[in-house]
Amino acid sequence: RDHRWSSDIPSYQNRSEYLGDLQHNCSLEIQDLQDDDAGYYYFRFDTDKYGRRSKESVYLTVTELKARVNPKRVRAGDTVTLECGASCPLSTTVWFKDGHPVSKPNFTAQAEDAGNYFCAVEGQESVQSDPVTLDVQYSPLNVSVEVSHAGLLTVGSSVNLTCSSAANPAADSYTWYRSTGSSSVLQVGSGQVLCLPSVDLSHSGLYICQSRNRLGENNSTQVLLTVTETDIYRLILLVGIGVKVVFLLLLPLFIIQAWRRWRNSTADTESHDYENV
Ligand SMILES: *[C@@H]1O[C@H](CO)[C@@H](O)[C@H](O)[C@H]1NC(C)=O
Ligand SMILES: *[C@@H]1O[C@H](CO)[C@@H](O)[C@H](O)[C@H]1NC(C)=O
Ligand SMILES: *[C@@H]1O[C@H](CO)[C@@H](O)[C@H](O)[C@H]1NC(C)=O
Ligand SMILES: *[C@@H]1O[C@H](CO)[C@@H](O)[C@H](O)[C@H]1NC(C)=O
Ligand SMILES: *[C@@H]1O[C@H](CO)[C@@H](O)[C@H](O)[C@H]1NC(C)=O
Repeated sequence: RDHRWSSDIPSYQNRSEYLGDLQHNCSLEIQDLQDDDAGYYYFRFDTDKYGRRSKESVYLTVTELKARVNPKRVRAGDTVTLECGASCPLSTTVWFKDGHPVSKPNFTAQAEDAGNYFCAVEGQESVQSDPVTLDVQYSPLNVSVEVSHAGLLTVGSSVNLTCSSAANPAADSYTWYRSTGSSSVLQVGSGQVLCLPSVDLSHSGLYICQSRNRLGENNSTQVLLTVTETDIYRLILLVGIGVKVVFLLLLPLFIIQAWRRWRNSTADTESHDYENV
């Protein structure tokens, strides 16, 4: 008589729904399955005279998705396999890394593959495994140099070159090289910052930072440092600016002068023309 699904167990109340047709179908949907939903389920109906219980029952197994990355720590270039398992056979599973879909469950690890992975059953992406972490170790990449002082340097000024790189584990040593026109390369310092508190002309050249961790080393691109003599440079600059300013001030005067002269001369010739006519 009472066809509604009823349960004495409060934890089912808001997670379950009777989907049957009140005739021959007594389907029940349970959402958000919990571990303790596992067990035997059977159907029963009651009338005012008697009750009946289904002869057969079904056993519900609740399992959890378990994600595994194999191995958990790799070097760039090694092969990684993602495994998604459960204690029962699964249909197609899909993978996500930091929330974004992963196209293949096995791949050659690169630096940017490091992160947190989880798997889900395709079509039920809201049911997820716990995340697992992949650690990818690699020698320095993207080594770059930042110069504290942009543009030309004058003798006596100070400049710092700062080296940065992406590496796992983090870079533990930095070496600075300078090459001048010829093929000679000099080691000029070490440490992440190369401080040049008072530069002179001999500091000009192409600088390279070499970043190193225990897996290897990599170089930055070359950075050009040009040191110029103070006074001569300033003088040339000032003279150059002065000449331009004077020229720009005088230009209108020249133009007006020239125009006046041209008008006078054309006026003269015009009057002559009239006389001739
Ligand atoms: C079921 O939902 C109702 C209304 O949203 C709420 O008052 C009740 O506490 C919930 N019961 C359980 C067992 O979560
Ligand atoms: C290196 O630089 C490239 C380009 O900017 C970037 O896509 C990549 O993620 C960087 N690598 C690392 C390990 O930071
Ligand atoms: C050096 O870094 C660049 C990118 O910054 C990378 O393409 C190259 O493979 C690295 N070389 C080595 C020897 O790690
Ligand atoms: C260079 O670094 C030193 C020490 O960190 C600092 O005292 C100095 O001001 C820096 N110079 C420039 C030009 O940034
Ligand atoms: C980096 O530069 C140094 C000095 O020029 C050179 O000896 C070394 O072979 C370079 N390393 C790489 C990976 O290019």
